[in-house]
Amino acid sequence: MLARLSQKRILLGVTGGIAAYKCADLIRRLRDAGAEVQVIMTAAAQEFITPLTLQALSGNTVHTDLLDPKAEAAMGHIELARWADLFLVAPASADTIARLCQGVANDLLTTCWLACGARKAVAPAMNQQMWLDPATQNNMITLQAREIAIFGPGSGVQACGDVGAGRLLEPLEIVALCAEQFASHALTGRHVVISAGPTREAVDPVRYLSNHSSGKMGFALAEACAEAGARVTLIAGPVNLATPDRVQRIDVVSARDMQAACELAVTDAVAAVGAEQSVFIATAAVADYRPAQVAEQKIKKGDKDDEITLTLVKNPDIVAGIAARAERPLVMGFAAETHAVEAYAQDKLARKKLDLIACNDVSRADIGFQSDDNAMTVFWPMGDGVGRADLAKASKAQIARQLVQLLADRLSSAGA
Ligand SMILES: Cc1cc2nc3c(=O)[nH]c(=O)nc-3n(C[C@H](O)[C@H](O)[C@H](O)COP(=O)(O)O)c2cc1C
Repeated sequence: MLARLSQKRILLGVTGGIAAYKCADLIRRLRDAGAEVQVIMTAAAQEFITPLTLQALSGNTVHTDLLDPKAEAAMGHIELARWADLFLVAPASADTIARLCQGVANDLLTTCWLACGARKAVAPAMNQQMWLDPATQNNMITLQAREIAIFGPGSGVQACGDVGAGRLLEPLEIVALCAEQFASHALTGRHVVISAGPTREAVDPVRYLSNHSSGKMGFALAEACAEAGARVTLIAGPVNLATPDRVQRIDVVSARDMQAACELAVTDAVAAVGAEQSVFIATAAVADYRPAQVAEQKIKKGDKDDEITLTLVKNPDIVAGIAARAERPLVMGFAAETHAVEAYAQDKLARKKLDLIACNDVSRADIGFQSDDNAMTVFWPMGDGVGRADLAKASKAQIARQLVQLLADRLSSAGA
């Protein structure tokens, strides 16, 4: 189960309690499980353990100041909040818990907390009387109502000599609870087929036509679907990415290879779990055209040829073909455009009879093809118009999880 933390980004907030020393071990254990860790410390936390220790253990500069121009130039507070897959405050002092409840944003930790849309958790640690105080107990009820995960606290002998509830959970217990945060059952029982990456269309034995797709969005979606309990088949064009855990990967090169593999995988999915439980997600940037003929030998540069002509023919439309099946899965398309993004996406949604379309503006340098971040708008048919969800810029992993939730919503509104 700890494998769920592989490559997850954990933003760890450390506050000023006697248990702060335990977060050194916690960071090690999180990293052992494959997570990346960035640390924010409150001023009080730095009185208990040094940023240098946590920097050495996390492998990243520790963040301490909100109003520091140098820090903002490196990884600013909003970037840090967006970076996180999980924001965990451990140990969480009574004081910080109170500030989180109030929505106070008077230091880096609390400001990032407000700015962070990821999963959140607190691991309280304090004297048993502080824990039992009605103010703290009310604050915990408030956090719970906001769907903040509460880890612990444990009970036993405390540093101050008291006995009771308020001990920080052991680091390994906290790591297991972090891993649990990434479990989801939104797609349990579904079979999802995802196409990802570019295709390559051969010109001759050494050359091809292709595009800039990195495959990152499709791979992030494959991972998020598997995390949400789906069986996942990933049909990948030529990309340089590791296969996510629990995902069956089929590598292809050309658009026609990709079509054959997608058709077969969708047929298998429908046979295994039925059309209503099957999903096809077309993230691949499939070449629209391919050379009409592939030269058998390398095309040589002729002395007299200042120009040569390449005749292209249309490739099959994979997503439209699958959406046109009688026994069709739920179909989600992607549109990467450089202008009139929303108009093209809505046209594609209707023309290809898709159930959902996610579109992004690849002319923006900060998101899209090679980037680790993305921002998307998703449309789906709704009555005579379209439904719409805007997903703000975030890591492709975070966007993928939001897309999985939208997919799960469409599946359940379709009654599947
Ligand atoms: C020796 C010592 C140990 C403390 N331990 C805790 C603790 O375990 N839990 C807690 O909530 N506060 C504890 N405090 C009080 C906090 O340090 C204090 O409330 C501080 O303002 C917390 O700031 P922060 O939440 O911004 O980190 C302790 C204070 C001292 C002097």
